Amino acid sequence: MPDREPIGVIGAGWVGLVTAACFAELGHEVHCRDIVPEKVEALRRGDVPIFEPGLADLVERNRERLHFTTDMGEVMSGAELLFCCVDTPPTYSGDADLSRIESVVRELGESHDHAIVMKSTVPVGTGRSIRRRRETGYVANPEFLQEGSAVHDFMHPDRVVVGSWDDSDEFGDRVVALYEALEAPIVRTDVASAEMIKLASNAFLATKISFINEIANVSEELGADVTEVARGMGLDERIGTQFLRAGIGYGGSCFPKDVSALKQLAGNSGYHFQLLTAVIEVNELQKRRTIGKLQKHLGSLVGKEIALLGVAFKPNTDDVREATSLVLAARLQSEGAHVRVYDPKAAGRARELLGSAQVTASALDALTGADAAVLVTEWPEFRELDWAGEVKERMAQPIVVDGRNFLDAELLTAAGFRVEGIGRSSERLSGSQERVARTS
Ligand code: UDX
Repeated sequence: MPDREPIGVIGAGWVGLVTAACFAELGHEVHCRDIVPEKVEALRRGDVPIFEPGLADLVERNRERLHFTTDMGEVMSGAELLFCCVDTPPTYSGDADLSRIESVVRELGESHDHAIVMKSTVPVGTGRSIRRRRETGYVANPEFLQEGSAVHDFMHPDRVVVGSWDDSDEFGDRVVALYEALEAPIVRTDVASAEMIKLASNAFLATKISFINEIANVSEELGADVTEVARGMGLDERIGTQFLRAGIGYGGSCFPKDVSALKQLAGNSGYHFQLLTAVIEVNELQKRRTIGKLQKHLGSLVGKEIALLGVAFKPNTDDVREATSLVLAARLQSEGAHVRVYDPKAAGRARELLGSAQVTASALDALTGADAAVLVTEWPEFRELDWAGEVKERMAQPIVVDGRNFLDAELLTAAGFRVEGIGRSSERLSGSQERVARTS
């Protein structure tokens, strides 16, 4: 075996491309296969079809080690460890759709020289069920990458999880060896536990978000400021500071899908996962609370012009899967509002999902004539807008719902805006204004 083991990557989507590019950067020959010929052609030319910071540079820098193909046979003759990175979208019932994984397994057949290294998020028990049909080679190696910082997350993981049939599994050892250069803690465990670690981690983070969102909603009623509350809670090391940012609900390709999948998986096994039922419900309600905040200031929304700033489910990505913006745009339109949206990266992708909403070329275009603005995604450029000057002049009414507590609320309030944050009562904002006035 060569010094650095060649690897195969099946599926050149977001996880597959990051995995392929990062292993190439670590010095491995990487054979990456996708079934879409146009995508493979583009990648061969060096065109990366998704926006992920640092990824295009990595692909460019490692072009000699990255081989893209539509042919599974080519990947199998180039590598024995085959990272399965196909997607597992939710079905209507909330279960994960494993059809793409099933076709990969069928294509690999009965080869004893190859192992599937499962990066895709799968229900607990998937590895066991594949093994019943296929004797050898299966390693669970879930990914914990965050969009927007995926390259960094791959290179600096908090931990690497490697699940194999037993501790001396040869393929498991080889997967562990691939990550040695990263000097991260390795959790070597059994396959089912590795599968559960992934689902439980995402479900726990989503729970943290729904929890802080409910604290935010109560804080609005009781006059507390959720950002202060989160700061005070987070410094307790047992709680931790991360994922305590209150907002208009979590979205993205993982949390909504994985929370439903775990809840459904528990249900299928006869266990009713009460907590996750609430986590999902709180998230859905959180998305809709924005409508009430707008109505508080505008009354009926019929004929009102509403600007949505941000479409992507979070900044630094053009991904709009399960983005709160889509739910909001639809709800606002059903209330009779005219919706204009702007996003620096993602609006193009979302165009057909936004109904009759108008996609504008700049934030200022969206804000011109607007009766209210809703900040949906915390893109840095939205903070840099000249709120007190040009924006105030251009908007029809100075009303802002800051869905991420991202804007400078004191500056906006001082400029005459009525600002609704998340988990901060309006009285408190004007109170902090008074404090500023008293201390200056
Ligand atoms: C997530 C996991 O973090 C990652 O480990 C897993 O591999 C894939 O799913 P990602 O979907 O890229 O990553 O986004 P993340 O940064 O985790 O944010 C998810 C959603 O939660 C976003 O909509 C974000 O706005 C929201 N969020 C996050 C909050 O509302 N508050 C927070 O404090 C953190």
